[in-house]
Parts: sequence; C-alpha cells; structure tokens
Amino acid sequence: MSQITAFGTYVPEKIIDNHFFEGLIDTNDEWIISRTGIKTRRYSKDGEYTSDLAYKAVQNLMESSGKDISDVDFIVVCTTSPDQPMPNAASRVQYKLGIQNTGCNDIYAACAGFVYGLQMAHGFINSGVYKKVLVIGSETLSKITDMSDRTSCILFGDGAGAALVEPGEEQFLAFNSGTNGDLGHDLYLSHKKNSINGVGINPNSKIVQNGRSVFKWAVGNIPIKIRELVDKAGLTMDDIDYIVPHSANLRIIEAIAKSLDYPMDKVPESVTEFGNTSSASIPIAIEKSRKNGGIKKGDIVLMIGFGGGLTFAGTIVRWNL
Ligand code: UT7
Repeated sequence: MSQITAFGTYVPEKIIDNHFFEGLIDTNDEWIISRTGIKTRRYSKDGEYTSDLAYKAVQNLMESSGKDISDVDFIVVCTTSPDQPMPNAASRVQYKLGIQNTGCNDIYAACAGFVYGLQMAHGFINSGVYKKVLVIGSETLSKITDMSDRTSCILFGDGAGAALVEPGEEQFLAFNSGTNGDLGHDLYLSHKKNSINGVGINPNSKIVQNGRSVFKWAVGNIPIKIRELVDKAGLTMDDIDYIVPHSANLRIIEAIAKSLDYPMDKVPESVTEFGNTSSASIPIAIEKSRKNGGIKKGDIVLMIGFGGGLTFAGTIVRWNL
C-alpha cells in the first residue's frame, strides 16, 4: 500500500514571453495565445541542466515537507531531456543529494513520464522491493528545441516536479496506460536514425512533431482513456474532484474537458504560464492548483500524461497532502 507523502516543484527564473519568438520566426503573440494558450514559459540558464532542476524540485519537496530523504532507496527521473544519455539523470540527482545505497533509473516516456514513474513507485512499494521512492519529472526542453521551427519552438518550457512515494494507506485507486507506436514518427527526437515506421525523420537531436496529428490523437483518445480509468477505479465522473491532463496545449485540455462534459475550473493546467514542460507539466499544474486553493487533502485527483510514443499513462489518487 503506497501514497505520495511529499511534493515539490522548481521552475527556472528566466521568463520568456511570446514576443521573444517574434525576432526569431514568423509568428506573433496573438497566434501563440489563440492556438496554444501559452503566454510565458521558463528557460534554464546556460550550464543549467535537467538534473539541476530535478535537484531543486527535491530541495523544495524537503523544505515544504520537512521529510528526511537520506534513506531514499530508489530515484526515478522521468525526462526526455537528460543532461546526457549516460550517466542517467537519476544518478546525477543521487550525486547532488549525496544519498547512499540508492537505485537510479530514468523513464523515457516523454510527457507521460511522470505518471509512469508513479506507477513504477507504486509497484516497487506494494511488492516490497523498495520503501522510499523519489519520482521526479524534469525537463530542459529549451535545450532540445529547434528554434527555427515555428510549429514547435513556441510550445516548450523548462521545469521540474518531485513526489516522494512511501508505504501507507493506499492512495492510488487505479492505473492505466497504452501506446500507439504506429504514430511514433509524429513526435520524436532522433540523434542518428533517419526513419520511424518507414517514414523519413530528421535526426537533428531536436524535438520534431506533426502537431496536428498529436492534437487529433490526444483529443480523440484521452477522454476515452479517462472514462476507462474512472470505471477501473469503480468511480463515476462525479467522484473525480480534479482532472490533471498533461499541459500540452490549452486547446487540447479544453477539448478533453468538453468531450467529458467536465468543468474547466476543475482541470488544473500549467501550460499558460510555463508552456509545455513535458514530464514536469502535471506536477507543476498540481502545485499551482494547491497554491491557489484548488487541490487539497482528500480530493480525488486523476492525472493523465500523453505524448511521444505516442503513449499515455493515467492514475487516480486520493490526494493526501
Ligand atoms: O506534449 C506533446 C507535444 N506536442 C503537442 O502537444 C502538440 C499538439 N499540437 C498543437 O499544439 C498544435 O497542433 C500546434 C500549436 C502545434 C499548431 O496549432 P494548429 O492549430 O494545429 O495549427 P496548424 O498546424 O493547423 O497550422 C495552422 C497555420 C499554418 O499555416 P497555413 O498552412 O494555414 O498557412 C501554419 O503554418 O498556422 C501556421 N503556423 C504558425 N503561424 C504563426 C504554425 N506555427 C505558427 C506560428 N506562428 N508559431
């Protein structure tokens, strides 16, 4: 039986508004707001990488909870933008924290990563393999964004969120996940290979997407998967106090809410202020909601991440903080 016992986030200081892009590409503030909802995003400094943001999110978790994490026995960092492919980001966080005897692994599931991380932590704890697991979603997407591609560069931002998962009264009520690898070529980052599914791709080490296809897939599938998850937990939509989808684009979030006939004021988002921060977007949205008097102890919160794969992962938790 497992629960989230502490939570923390971090976003870099540097605020990037939409006018920043007007000097780089053919775009404008009005287009970006009307098509994405994004007003600002944060960019990490030169020399500031994913494990640095992850470490700061864990520091925030420790400060806000007073929790001792010296005996954490597993760290999982969910990211698409690790400092480097090897060593993994989790090992860099372990080093910065100075924790001993800690297993370290990264989850590479793009915007679904954080929820996959929670699923993994729940499995570790409920099977008795580990007792204290740190799940961190952290991204420095600004470092892997193609600033000459106007269809993607306006979307992404940097940030991190961390959750501590420990044994306790069961807080996780259901999980689901699924993947459409047949659409893998619609959202990718390739260092070498130049095709996916036989479709030519650009191995430029930057995020490349077919925005319309990802949009259509998310809006067509995620509401169905949310209903399936609610059923799996033996609940009804009325029981769900908040739905926190990945903050990809405000229009995607609004379309999901509309399709479910679910009120937007119960759908926390982080995209308008922080852009699409991939695996960090759900924890940042949750923290923002908590600070604004939204999510509170006892609430039933559904989280669902979706993105590159194309893959999704969902969970329903009874929020305990
Ligand atoms: O975390 C998962 C990662 N990815 C996503 O979630 C992406 C999901 N998709 C999206 O967010 C949206 O598809 C975008 C924001 C990327 C694009 O919005 P859209 O409403 O789907 O626009 P579109 O691709 O249909 O393009 C409409 C027009 C096109 O011009 P034409 O062909 O109609 O003349 C684009 O070239 O808008 C043009 N356009 C832009 N114009 C100004 C595309 N990007 C821009 C831009 N500024 N930045």
